[in-house]
Amino acid sequence: MVFFRTGQQSNLANSVRWLQMQTSSDLVLSFPLFLLLCFVFFPVIDIDSIDDLHSHLKEMIPEQQERLKKVKSELGKSQLGNITVDMVIGGMRGMTGLLWETSLLDPDEGIRFRGLSIPECQKLLPTAKPDGEPLPEGLLWLLLTGKVPTKEQVDALSKELRDRATIPDYVYKAIDALPETAHPMTQFASGVMALQVESEFQKAYEKGIHKSRYWEPTYEDSLNLIARVPAVAAYVYRRIYKDGQVIPKDDSLDYGANFSHMLGFDDLKMQELMRLYVTIHSDHEGGNVSAHTGHLVASALSDPYLSFAAALNGLAGPLHGLANQEVLLWIKSVVEECGENITKEQLNDYVWKTLNSGKVVPGFGHGVLRKTDPRYICQREFALKHLPDDPLFQLVSKLFEVVPPILTELGKVKNPWPNVDAHSGVLLNHFGLTEARYYTVLFGVSRSLGICSQLIWDRALGLPLERPKSVTLDWIEKHCKKAG
Ligand SMILES: CC(C)(COP(=O)(O)OP(=O)(O)OC[C@H]1O[C@@H](n2cnc3c(N)ncnc32)[C@H](O)[C@@H]1OP(=O)(O)O)[C@@H](O)C(=O)NCCC(=O)NCCS
Repeated sequence: MVFFRTGQQSNLANSVRWLQMQTSSDLVLSFPLFLLLCFVFFPVIDIDSIDDLHSHLKEMIPEQQERLKKVKSELGKSQLGNITVDMVIGGMRGMTGLLWETSLLDPDEGIRFRGLSIPECQKLLPTAKPDGEPLPEGLLWLLLTGKVPTKEQVDALSKELRDRATIPDYVYKAIDALPETAHPMTQFASGVMALQVESEFQKAYEKGIHKSRYWEPTYEDSLNLIARVPAVAAYVYRRIYKDGQVIPKDDSLDYGANFSHMLGFDDLKMQELMRLYVTIHSDHEGGNVSAHTGHLVASALSDPYLSFAAALNGLAGPLHGLANQEVLLWIKSVVEECGENITKEQLNDYVWKTLNSGKVVPGFGHGVLRKTDPRYICQREFALKHLPDDPLFQLVSKLFEVVPPILTELGKVKNPWPNVDAHSGVLLNHFGLTEARYYTVLFGVSRSLGICSQLIWDRALGLPLERPKSVTLDWIEKHCKKAG
């Protein structure tokens, strides 16, 4: 089987799938055809050049399984910190409780994808054009394997994702069953749930697949899901905002550019923005609401579609992914009230007005980060390069100066600095994607890369059902009294 995972893979895999679908008598007749296909393809396949993502993973998995076993047996009883009452009632902040291989968040330095910071990814991952932004397919490869792919590997993965991006019509019908006024995230998550009908994991599980092979249908589902969500997301956008005029995919484009194209934006700078956007929003270690939800639901052996749809519902909350919508709406409300040439003093007053009305300043603060989010910084650099004169970008820059001292003055905010969501909206708005209510869907498409990559590893490593212990207030009081 592994021999066929090359450039010709999809043709041959389709032929094999077709052969599998025949009755046994048909198979007898088809066997010569199969031999002919092998004869046609085999000579061009050099075993040493087997270079696709699936083969790389297959090679890595036994090694990582051994590593996990060793950690369990040698380090299993080591302490990773003490659990305090504050942690239990405080949203588990600072409590190490999850294994998440694809990325790690440092409070000061920000995210590292498999050890690489965002600037390092920008430098090392293949791009569509010289000095351009990383191709998200390259990041997907990195998240899954921990290795920086070559441009050829990324191009092959791009093609594989395009080949997997066929969407059954009932997915669109499921979305159409909702009113157009339904929030874009509700429509998107419903589309993802409808995609679940084709889950390879569910089929394999029903047929009794051995648990050592769970990762394989999880891999198939994950790649199909990642390949398909941009078209579902674009459908939601075109349905709500562009009179339902759907734009088909363009098979000459990479993942990010194609997504931009299907949304209706063919500006080359917007394509670059989409590549950057999808890359930097993909993963943020495992404890954030969407990633953790995906991982939790998948731990019940729910397939990637069920798990990812659940993750999207967490992402749709205003303290998490919806913040990008909230930021642009808030910025627009500032402009509406004070005009575009707002002074820092006016901005100062507006921030206090927001806080005094019992609201948070969207786009600032973080559950883990304690410095300016590097995802904010790279978007700021993109803006400085491509849209330095945009009035809303200038307003965002002023907010960078005005908000942190105010949040610090409040005395309770642990991180007064801007996060990823403080910047994304003004970039999208600049290129014409002005519908803020839609922004979290873009975030969702990107998150499929990180969450699904980890789900494949969850199944490859045989990670167990997640089931932490909970306690009551009564229990805490009694326990602490007894302990003195
Ligand atoms: C992200 C966020 C939810 C993290 O929450 P957290 O881990 O509880 O943050 P902190 O420990 O710093 O919160 C302590 C207090 O400061 C407040 N705070 C934190 N960020 C704030 C902000 N941007 N504006 C106003 N108040 C804020 C919290 O609401 C909390 O107040 P409370 O004790 O009255 O409930 C929070 O910073 C926030 O609401 N930010 C705005 C929304 C946002 O941008 N979300 C996207 C995150 S990527």
